Amino acid sequence: MAQNVLLTGGSGFVGKHLTDVLIDNGFSVSVLSRSEQKDTPSITYYKWDLKKNFVEKEAVLKADYIVHLAGEGIVEKRWTKKRKKAILESRTKPIELIYSVLKENNKTVKAFVSASAIGIYGAITSHKICTEETPPANDFLGTTCQVWENTVDKINTLGIRTVKIRTGIVFGKNEGFLKKVVPSFNSGFGAVLGTGKQYLPWIHIDDLSEIYLKAITDEGMHGAYNACITDNTTNAGFSKTLASILGYSIWMPAIPAFFLKIALGEMSQAVLKGQRVSSQKIQKTGFEFQFTDLEKTLLNCLH
Ligand SMILES: NC(=O)c1ccc[n+]([C@@H]2O[C@H](COP(=O)([O-])OP(=O)(O)OC[C@H]3O[C@@H](n4cnc5c(N)ncnc54)[C@H](OP(=O)(O)O)[C@@H]3O)[C@@H](O)[C@H]2O)c1
Repeated sequence: MAQNVLLTGGSGFVGKHLTDVLIDNGFSVSVLSRSEQKDTPSITYYKWDLKKNFVEKEAVLKADYIVHLAGEGIVEKRWTKKRKKAILESRTKPIELIYSVLKENNKTVKAFVSASAIGIYGAITSHKICTEETPPANDFLGTTCQVWENTVDKINTLGIRTVKIRTGIVFGKNEGFLKKVVPSFNSGFGAVLGTGKQYLPWIHIDDLSEIYLKAITDEGMHGAYNACITDNTTNAGFSKTLASILGYSIWMPAIPAFFLKIALGEMSQAVLKGQRVSSQKIQKTGFEFQFTDLEKTLLNCLH
């Protein structure tokens, strides 16, 4: 019988791609979602309601592996106190709920793999290259990722192998980050943000899906792994490459940092700051990135 992988937030950008990869590799897939969805021949949907601490337990009880992708969008809305709480709790509460089902039912899975983000290193603008050993930062993204990852470690106390995928900005065809920025470039309003010197660590969705697959199947993988290319792309480099692929040159002046701070508040950090991140640890597991060149990757996503 096919091994079953339960995906939380499996209906999102990463989840949909990972579902295809898992099915291609002979797994059966279950998805935990807040909304009712119709099963397909290869995907079984289950419901949960985190506010009511409710989950259809069968989803967890039949899983051989669990991948946790659920969470409120980080840059969807201004980071008010309420929004920050929602961003954090939409990532930690699902883990707590799964932990209690596993524990109460004396159930184990072969691995629990969770999304995390390179935001754990904080809004670093220096040239330092962050590795998985770099301590978490004290800003909002740093502390959020740290609490998120610490909650994943609770699953580890049940004797379950846990892996945390510290993800960079994910590029896909008309999805995720590109879906947000391409329209403004196509309307002629694409611009460099702030100084443009901030690093923008990225990964193609196909590579990310393969990293998740490896984290599921490779029993040697434990703990945190950075999932992004270390090619030192900056916001200015990305913006110019994107504009040129779309057939434009950027005429807009760079959008000043103070303007973005007024428009976006604290969330402006997410676009004005960036990190240089090492991908050595994941490569040492034998993983090879298929997409390493920014221009070719953007061409792949946009055509
Ligand atoms: N995409 C990126 O560039 C990127 C970069 C770094 C890290 N990550 C992390 O990777 C994970 C997956 O990213 P993604 O791009 O696939 O995200 P996504 O497209 O926004 O999907 C996330 C899924 O989480 C569920 N969700 C949203 N709010 C929720 C809430 N309040 N409670 C429970 N579930 C909720 C939704 O599923 P239902 O509506 O079906 O419940 C949604 O489809 C996220 O944790 C994200 O932070 C992504």
